[in-house]
Amino acid sequence: MTKVILVSSPKGGSGKSVVARHLLVLAAQNGLTVLGVDFDKQGTLEKWGNRRKKLREKYPDFIDVPVISSTLQAWRSGLNNAEKYDLVVVDTPPSVEDHMSAITGLAQKADLVVIPSVCTQDDVDSVLPWVSILKNATKNSIIILNRANRRTNSFARIRGSFLKVADVCPVELPQLEDVHVPSGKGLTLLDFTKSRGQEAFEELWLFVKRKVL
Ligand SMILES: Nc1ncnc2c1ncn2[C@@H]1O[C@H](COP(=O)(O)OP(=O)(O)OP(=O)(O)O)[C@@H](O)[C@H]1O
Ligand SMILES: [Mg+2]
Repeated sequence: MTKVILVSSPKGGSGKSVVARHLLVLAAQNGLTVLGVDFDKQGTLEKWGNRRKKLREKYPDFIDVPVISSTLQAWRSGLNNAEKYDLVVVDTPPSVEDHMSAITGLAQKADLVVIPSVCTQDDVDSVLPWVSILKNATKNSIIILNRANRRTNSFARIRGSFLKVADVCPVELPQLEDVHVPSGKGLTLLDFTKSRGQEAFEELWLFVKRKVL
């Protein structure tokens, strides 16, 4: 049975595409057949997937992570080929209010909705109303704290605000200056044997996997 993870947040730049591509690579490295579906017109995940495809022509040892793109208006047909895969990870644009019925439809269909959020009050202000809306569509959503630093005073306060209304993933992603670097070649931190930040993504995958598979 195909499992679907929807990555969604109304806040721009919260880490949706970063989380989507790292989950895809980890799932593939763990033996699942995966498909990325990019519903964001910016095409961040799609462009990454195209670069990866090109790189694999020369270096096929990098694991295959196919990515397709579609519009949110046509989200049902965008998932047409999904049933061939073990796991589909769906990346979405931040403009949820313009695509409310499509994104809540996707949330109903998804086995898990992942909401990455940076640890600032602005992000809390944006994400909390979205969590309430999603509650009508799914019982399976988690917030992933991104660019998190447990040593800051604000971390516990922000995490506490989220915990009052939502499930918060026990694994947070730290600030990783180089997380964008491998993306230039269609890669992730997980495509290398040792890079800072790998562990956090691996632990995140262990948690997500238990929720979904
Ligand atoms: N943990 C992190 N550490 C450092 N930089 C990060 C981290 N997560 C994301 N970034 C950077 O933040 C920027 C936004 O990340 P990303 O593109 O994944 O966000 P997004 O939610 O998909 O954005 P959009 O809403 O525009 O689609 C990127 O430059 C990315 O490299
Ligand atoms: Mg994005």
